[in-house]
Amino acid sequence: MGPIPQVYRMNERNFAHTSTTLISTQETLPLRKKILKPFLTEAECINPGDDLQSTFHFACKVDSKIVSIATFLAEPHPCLPQALHPYRLRGMASDTDLGPRQGYGSRVLQEGIEYLQTHQQCDAIWCNAREQAFGFYEKMGFQFFGELFDIKDIGPHKVMYKILNPR
Ligand SMILES: CC(C)(COP(=O)(O)OP(=O)(O)OC[C@H]1O[C@@H](n2cnc3c(N)ncnc32)[C@H](O)[C@@H]1OP(=O)(O)O)[C@@H](O)C(=O)NCCC(=O)NCCS
Repeated sequence: MGPIPQVYRMNERNFAHTSTTLISTQETLPLRKKILKPFLTEAECINPGDDLQSTFHFACKVDSKIVSIATFLAEPHPCLPQALHPYRLRGMASDTDLGPRQGYGSRVLQEGIEYLQTHQQCDAIWCNAREQAFGFYEKMGFQFFGELFDIKDIGPHKVMYKILNPR
């Protein structure tokens, strides 16, 4: 684990004080609990596959504080029948301490995707998107697949995906 190259800059925001790094499962848990599943303990926020060698957790940090996280698992989905190296995005969350929509989520997602394209030949990404995050994923170039469905304790979701250009 360690810093990954700053290969991407979103919009015209100044990210001089931020960095994107690979982190451990353990380091994702406080933000997963705080933002995604406050009704669970941190230990219960561990997902199957989190510790597989093929799984990658990324964080956007401001100074040394984690402000946004995203996890990618090697996992196919029927919405991506052609993909050779599909990844599932899980646990996408930005801290609200520094205010909403600061550009951290898009940064960690984009840099995570670029890392997977470069190092894992990732050619497609999918996720179960919460309804409240549809607009974010659309901004990031994701498309919808299938019908709205409910996940207990969280609410309505849709599968969203993005086909990537091979590198
Ligand atoms: C969804 C989430 C991860 C987005 O992270 P973020 O750090 O706020 O996102 P960014 O600031 O990088 O936003 C990137 C762009 O998407 C837009 N955006 C962000 N959230 C949005 C939303 N919910 N609806 C519409 N647009 C949104 C931003 O305005 C920005 O657009 P711009 O570049 O034109 O200014 C964050 O709001 C969050 O943690 N939400 C709660 C947990 C959640 O729903 N996670 C997703 C689970 S599937």
